[in-house]
Amino acid sequence: MWTTPEHDKYRLKIREFAEGEIAPYTHTMDDEQSFRMELVPRLNELGLLGLQVDRAYGGSFTDTLTYIIAVEEVSRVCGSTGILLAAHNSLGTYPIYRFGNEEQKRKYLPEITSGGKLSAFGLSEPEAGSDAGGTKTYAAKTDGGYLVNGGKCWITNGGIARTIVFTARTSKEKGVKGISSLILSAGTKGFTVGKKENKLGMRGSDTRVLHFEDMFIAESDRLGEEGQGFKQFMITLDGGRVSIGAMALGIAQGAYDIAAKYAIKRKQFGKPIAEFQGIAFKLADMATQLQAARHLIYHAAILKDKPGIRFTREAAMAKLYASEIANNITYAAIGVLGAEGYSQDYAVERMYRDAKLCEIGEGTSEIQRLVISRLIVDEVSQSTSTFGLPREKANTE
Ligand code: CAA
Repeated sequence: MWTTPEHDKYRLKIREFAEGEIAPYTHTMDDEQSFRMELVPRLNELGLLGLQVDRAYGGSFTDTLTYIIAVEEVSRVCGSTGILLAAHNSLGTYPIYRFGNEEQKRKYLPEITSGGKLSAFGLSEPEAGSDAGGTKTYAAKTDGGYLVNGGKCWITNGGIARTIVFTARTSKEKGVKGISSLILSAGTKGFTVGKKENKLGMRGSDTRVLHFEDMFIAESDRLGEEGQGFKQFMITLDGGRVSIGAMALGIAQGAYDIAAKYAIKRKQFGKPIAEFQGIAFKLADMATQLQAARHLIYHAAILKDKPGIRFTREAAMAKLYASEIANNITYAAIGVLGAEGYSQDYAVERMYRDAKLCEIGEGTSEIQRLVISRLIVDEVSQSTSTFGLPREKANTE
């Protein structure tokens, strides 16, 4: 319903790449907790690092739906590669494209959109997780720029990125309006990459602590005006949440595909287990949830491309629903495969571990519910309709 024949053709191309070139590495990336960097030049060649950026800055600009299909197809095979792409495109690169001035775009984008280098996004801190406005990292004004002290945590691509967009407080007084976005290059004096997190899932993804100690950032590397950082990051996260939805959808689709194939081949009591209602109904529920998630995500992706439309609610709904069904579907897939699903011989146990991240990263499910409910309350309180009011106040006889 949402896709064109071009989208469908593109999906097949990315599926072929993911199954042929990423799948051979998924077990070792998970075991060794390390991304296979030899994949990055291929991601670059396929234009997957510049999907949200105009060709003038080295990008391979596509509509958001095409980008979302790419994240979905890659995540179907490998969640760790999916999150690398989502964090790079939506979080590390997009803010420079959207909020950067011409000089910043020319300076930073070509390298990360088509030069084979990666980007990352630094928002979370020990005291600023769900409360993104609680940033403590401080950028003190100095000659020509800022001296930054503090750090970030849970940064996807943190140790392998060339360019990192991050938030810091440029005023101690103004609450969220005292936060600004700054651009940092790997190798900057005072910047060190800290410990790599040992995670339940997404183990191929490079998740780091970052330290800033008297790190000089030039004023020319600030995105927009001082104080605009919080709003810029909220807008960035709206797009990011659609891509996390796509990642969840892809992981769930992968688990479903494996479970459905297994259920048709695996025989017990003289017939394929797919012919038993206990399994068949599980597959039916999975397929229905996948379809519903796909509609929510594609709709949000299409809205993102419509000028002047705020799609915060749709993005939060898509991410919330897709992450929750991804957890259900990967869990159910293990059930379909039984003991085989519990073993590392099949990918479903990794997918189950990877899916959990989707309910946490880029805003937990609780935060998505908070965002949705606040917007619903605003909408309902602005309504002038008399529908549902008591008889004496409504326009009824
Ligand atoms: N678009 C535009 N503006 C927005 C906005 C949006 N989506 N959301 C908020 N704003 C604006 C508000 O309108 C408000 O502006 P005004 O004061 O001018 O009216 C301002 O921003 C402050 O908004 P709130 O009062 O709503 O702010 P809050 O402090 O109550 O926080 C929150 C809101 C929804 C809880 C927010 O802090 C949030 O989303 N938290 C979760 C953070 C998160 O997702 N972190 C994930 C880190 S990234 C990550 O995980 C990366 C990875 O690698 C996996």
